[in-house]
Amino acid sequence: MNKKIKKIILKKNKTKITCLTAYSKNIAKIIDNYCDLILVGDSMANVLYGLKNTHSITLENIIQHTISVKKGTKKSLLVVDMPKNSYNNYKSAINNSKLIIKKTGCDAVKLESNNKNFKIIRNLVKRNIPVMGHIGYTPQFKKKFKIEGDTSKKSKKLLKEALLIEKAGAFAIVLECISSETSKLITASLKIPTIGIGSSSFCDGQILVTDDMLGLSGFYPKFVKKYENLNRIIEKAVKKYTREVKLEKFPAINNFLDGTKRR
Ligand code: KIV
Repeated sequence: MNKKIKKIILKKNKTKITCLTAYSKNIAKIIDNYCDLILVGDSMANVLYGLKNTHSITLENIIQHTISVKKGTKKSLLVVDMPKNSYNNYKSAINNSKLIIKKTGCDAVKLESNNKNFKIIRNLVKRNIPVMGHIGYTPQFKKKFKIEGDTSKKSKKLLKEALLIEKAGAFAIVLECISSETSKLITASLKIPTIGIGSSSFCDGQILVTDDMLGLSGFYPKFVKKYENLNRIIEKAVKKYTREVKLEKFPAINNFLDGTKRR
């Protein structure tokens, strides 16, 4: 087993697992110093490409961004989202995940669950392709963003789904927007780690979309904590730059390549 994956599994019930998303080298390089896992998420659809949902992200998009992220990643486990419709059957799941791994050198792929694709996961794992599962609010399959597992019937259903994903051989599972009680139950019932997003502190680890926690994306639901307001910081810098260009304060003499005055 990949050593980084083993290390993450061993953290269960010991220390919390820290994860963030990245779509480019410079951000990955910073995250890599602190996080256990970096996810190249298909959330790039909304965050980078301004699309309404994640459905039209292509394999090429995912591969291109992962090549960049990989350049900034040394220590963290690099996991990549399989785009919607890229794992509909055994053949496409195997071919596309192999292509992603071959072209990018990532460690694992993440598949969203539709509560049916357990055998697809099983098949990938059997072929030594490490898989991370994803249940609860799964944007590739569900239209409405809402809390999941908030009744006892829904909770049991989600637990069953999580157990089947574990049985299929996934090494970890993302719980997205799942009620705290259900997250607690799933985390206690699984041997593999649970990584929560909007799913309380009962999970074995946490993930956020980096642009959200940096205050860059404009998307701040209740479960996101804004650790910085990069929008404001970038705006301040851009404003200062444009003012200085207009006032001919920038470039200053020390920015001239030949050290001479323009006029
Ligand atoms: O696409 C993504 O960024 C994700 C996380 C929200 C878990 O799947």
